Amino acid sequence: MNTFKKPRWLIRESKVTNENLYFNRREFIKRSSIYLGSSAIAYNFLSKDGTASQNNINDLKFIKNNKYNIISEITSENLSTKYNNFFEFGSTKNIWKESQKLDTDNWKLKITGLVEKSMILDVDNLINRFKLEERIYRHRCVEAWSMVVPWLGFQMSKLIKHCNPLSSAKYIKFTTFYNPKIATEQKARWYPWPYTEGLTIEEANNELSFIVLGAYGKNLHNQFGAPIRLHLPWKYGFKSIKSIVEIEFTDKRPVSFWENLASNEYGFWANVNPAVDHPRWSQKTERVLGGGERETEIYNGYGPEVSALYSNFSSLGDRLFR
Ligand code: MTE
Repeated sequence: MNTFKKPRWLIRESKVTNENLYFNRREFIKRSSIYLGSSAIAYNFLSKDGTASQNNINDLKFIKNNKYNIISEITSENLSTKYNNFFEFGSTKNIWKESQKLDTDNWKLKITGLVEKSMILDVDNLINRFKLEERIYRHRCVEAWSMVVPWLGFQMSKLIKHCNPLSSAKYIKFTTFYNPKIATEQKARWYPWPYTEGLTIEEANNELSFIVLGAYGKNLHNQFGAPIRLHLPWKYGFKSIKSIVEIEFTDKRPVSFWENLASNEYGFWANVNPAVDHPRWSQKTERVLGGGERETEIYNGYGPEVSALYSNFSSLGDRLFR
């Protein structure tokens, strides 16, 4: 992102995917039930080869939303969970082990700002309160790589309704945790930590805006932004903020982490748009994780669902990217 001299995806595949490091979930459940008595309380458990395991990965109950289950070429879990942007834990793609330090138990989500009543939600309860559905979404990073992931979660509009925002609320600001003791990159003072993002209320209420609590049939891997993140498939990936601790309703347009660092490169709208290059590289095509290249589509192919949100914009030019 802003720190890049060249697109970071120019990393060799052999460097990012090490099959030996992949943690076998069945093995985990088997061994943790022997040593710990429960598969749900393992933390930084060591696998056979001495590498760190992934925390608290359990199956979840969900229904498939057929409307969003039409893409067949899903990125393998082994690839998508070993090639991540989570700058709190480092500026390479290989942060999955570092991210296991994040303790996601009893995670709380604060709802603040222009709402009838501020509240603190227990993320574990959200899984029961809102029916989980699976949606297979395309993910297009601003760095020109892409993947397809079966996310589990619920439509954000349900949570917004639950929060009872006032009519004066025009935007939503999302904030990630701040804990430099475990997320050591947060010690770097030149970054405007914590990571934040923003949407208009209309965007957040769009049918595609998804609160994610799981992936690949299980609760979220830490490196994916456990225990709660967004996925906004028509926007560049940096808008899909991870490990959220606060949702604030506001009448002011939030300035996000990346916009704060480089507003000419990472703007508020950040809708996927092959017609507008990033100042330092083309956005016409994307490298697909796992192999191949595809032409990037306007709104990442989700125009039918979202283009009405931007109908008062004069053209598909600069402003959709900025
Ligand atoms: N959220 C936080 N808190 N920190 C981050 O560094 N990176 C963003 C986004 N959300 C990021 C974040 C970027 S640049 C991308 S492309 C996606 O997360 C990557 O999501 P993935 O690791 O699940 O592919």
